[in-house]
Amino acid sequence: MKTFFNVEDLGDLKVALSEAQEVKANRYAYQELGENKTLLMIFFNNSLRTRLSTQKAATNLGMNVIVLDVNAGAWKLETERGVIMDGDKSEHLLEAIPVMASYCDIIAVRSFAGLTDREQDYSEAIVNQFVKHSGKPVVAMETATVHPLQAFADLITISEHPIKGKRRPKVVLTWAPHCRALPQAVPNSFAQWMNVADVDFVITHPKGYELDPKFAGNAVVEYDQKKALEGADFVYAKNWSCPGVANRADYGKIISDDRSWTIDAEHMSWTNDAYFMHCLPVRRGLIVTDDVIESNRSLVIPEAANREISAEVVLKRVLESL
Ligand code: CP
Repeated sequence: MKTFFNVEDLGDLKVALSEAQEVKANRYAYQELGENKTLLMIFFNNSLRTRLSTQKAATNLGMNVIVLDVNAGAWKLETERGVIMDGDKSEHLLEAIPVMASYCDIIAVRSFAGLTDREQDYSEAIVNQFVKHSGKPVVAMETATVHPLQAFADLITISEHPIKGKRRPKVVLTWAPHCRALPQAVPNSFAQWMNVADVDFVITHPKGYELDPKFAGNAVVEYDQKKALEGADFVYAKNWSCPGVANRADYGKIISDDRSWTIDAEHMSWTNDAYFMHCLPVRRGLIVTDDVIESNRSLVIPEAANREISAEVVLKRVLESL
């Protein structure tokens, strides 16, 4: 595997899930694979889970790890071509990428959406420069539009919680309110992965929050949140800003602050005693109430723990392809 951005990069999901369980049972079994190999993790944005889990996964595989926080100690990077660099940006990404690549075997990048220019975000302008100019495998640690390590961990978590008497569980991705405009990367990837997984998948959100069709795929979209949640086995709550599908001018904006979408005990009572999921970090009282996230149906901690496993499977696959 040379890049990891989309669900198809992983191939057959059943095989990947079985590999995840194998790795989970013995996470140090492949120490020799990463010997004398270096992972460079580049963060343009903050992280807790992605940073720790990916670093842990790499060390499980015997790799050396370098972490660079671009906004904390590195030269400020210019990302546009053709600009006169007379501002505060001292180095261009086009030099920085091959330089960084010369110190490592695999590059992992986190670079969020700017949420002002839809075309720029959805063309993945920054991470595609890493793919083009590094000459090294590139793993997405959340880009402008996708967060595949999260979606893979989510799928692993769902597969570990079979629903009695159901071959295909009902999984509902529900929008929930938030005080800041957030990217669409997590719901995009979750939708992309659930569309391939062996589940019945429903997305619910207020009108105007339609995900880009390339991610929403064939998912059922139900604008009535109560109807969507009825009979759900897994409730995946997440906020996202307007994807600008129906109205490009609204891209990246908060177009609803409807607090009736916050997941509380009443919402969960409409479900089939569903498990609650969220990628974290989560704002309590906006996305979900304390009692729901603290309940015995909440999977947020095992979900986060599985980030180590998803990262290890992905890095293992990349190492095997070097
Ligand atoms: N879920 C997730 O990616 O968490 P971090 O932003 O803390 O890495």
